[in-house]
Amino acid sequence: MKEAEISFSFPTEVVREGEISFVAPRLEAFVDEPWEYAPSKAPVFYNPIMELNRDLAVLALQAYQKMRDKKIAACEPLSGCGVRGVRFALEVEGISRIVLNDINEEAVRLAEFNVQRNNLGDRISVANGDANLLLSSYAAPRRRFDCIDIDPFGSPVAYIDSAIRALRDHGFLALTATDLAPLCGVHPRACIRKYGGRPLRTEYCHELAVRLLTGCLTTMAAKHGMGVRVLLSHSTDHYIRVYAIANYGAKRADISVQKIGHILHCFTCLHRETSSGIISSSRQECIECGAKVSAAGPLWLGKTSNKEFCALMIKELKERNLRNQKIILKLLSLSRDEAEASPTYYVTDKICDKLDLPIPPIIEVMEKLRNSGYEATSTSFCSRGIRTDAPAKVVKNITARLVT
Ligand SMILES: C[S@@+](CC[C@H](N)C(=O)[O-])C[C@H]1O[C@@H](n2cnc3c(N)ncnc32)[C@H](O)[C@@H]1O
Ligand SMILES: [Zn+2]
Repeated sequence: MKEAEISFSFPTEVVREGEISFVAPRLEAFVDEPWEYAPSKAPVFYNPIMELNRDLAVLALQAYQKMRDKKIAACEPLSGCGVRGVRFALEVEGISRIVLNDINEEAVRLAEFNVQRNNLGDRISVANGDANLLLSSYAAPRRRFDCIDIDPFGSPVAYIDSAIRALRDHGFLALTATDLAPLCGVHPRACIRKYGGRPLRTEYCHELAVRLLTGCLTTMAAKHGMGVRVLLSHSTDHYIRVYAIANYGAKRADISVQKIGHILHCFTCLHRETSSGIISSSRQECIECGAKVSAAGPLWLGKTSNKEFCALMIKELKERNLRNQKIILKLLSLSRDEAEASPTYYVTDKICDKLDLPIPPIIEVMEKLRNSGYEATSTSFCSRGIRTDAPAKVVKNITARLVT
């Protein structure tokens, strides 16, 4: 099929991303004003802002494939124009087959075109239907996938159960969530309804969002006798993303469920602590200042990134030349360095706002914390965030002493 021979009922253009080129809707043609959100106005969804998301997905899949050291089968059940699947096939070594799917007929037509355009017809198939129906048809043990990438509009929750069923033992699951208003506590009831946990509007709400999504994944996986291990998570632009491995075994599932709990937060003095278990601690008062504490959860209290996996991804990154190379290196280095640190982080602006003080350089706060015997690392979740094992009162004292 030659490019000139195919016609779409809407304006298109050739786009380059990673190592591929593909045909996408010409976004400018679908908006009257520059502030309008073009991706959702086009007849087929395509968002150039998500290039970074796809870059990381390529690197993560390659790192996973190298860890497994075998040929892998992947599925993207909400594939839009097919860019992610085509990139997987051409940029990741060791992929045997990829199944793409979309409910939108126009999207499927465009994805099929992009598959043919890149000569990938022998390795990629494109289906047209509901993502849950597709995943269910691959739930039988011998039909399952090694990797499933769920990249929907809004929440991935509706697809997690069928993705778990269509995932092989030691399978790799990638989840995007763009519904940050519920996850970050703007619509708490929607979060409880969808994710089964209570969010909080704290300065580290994006980390809480990742923990709520992972908590939800953990309880769903446990129902199928699978335990979960997070390899990487990040919060970028308008979305969060979680990469996890799921392993069969009742004991593994139990161990994962034991990593579910709550984060208690005091909005008065910024003290925070974790409490294990599905039921929240009955304590209502802050142990530091006596004010009422708020609880986020049930959510995942385990690690949100894995040091070795981040290092593997960095190694893969250094062999490539991506447009977002520097941003990705920073994100992965931060994720690697904070992998062992404790949950939640402090934001200097928030502390200084509370104490009515000017903001000292974050590097100096971290140095003073380390000199006082505490750990202090930056976080990929917030450029002004500090992860530390120091109590809130110590972080506040050190910050205040630097500016008074
Ligand atoms: C955010 S877009 C996917 C973008 C794509 N993953 C990428 O990287 O470019 C979500 C896609 O899900 C499709 N979709 C929505 N509901 C669906 C469903 N129930 N089953 C399958 N596809 C669906 C939409 O048509 C849209 O193309
Ligand atoms: Zn307090």
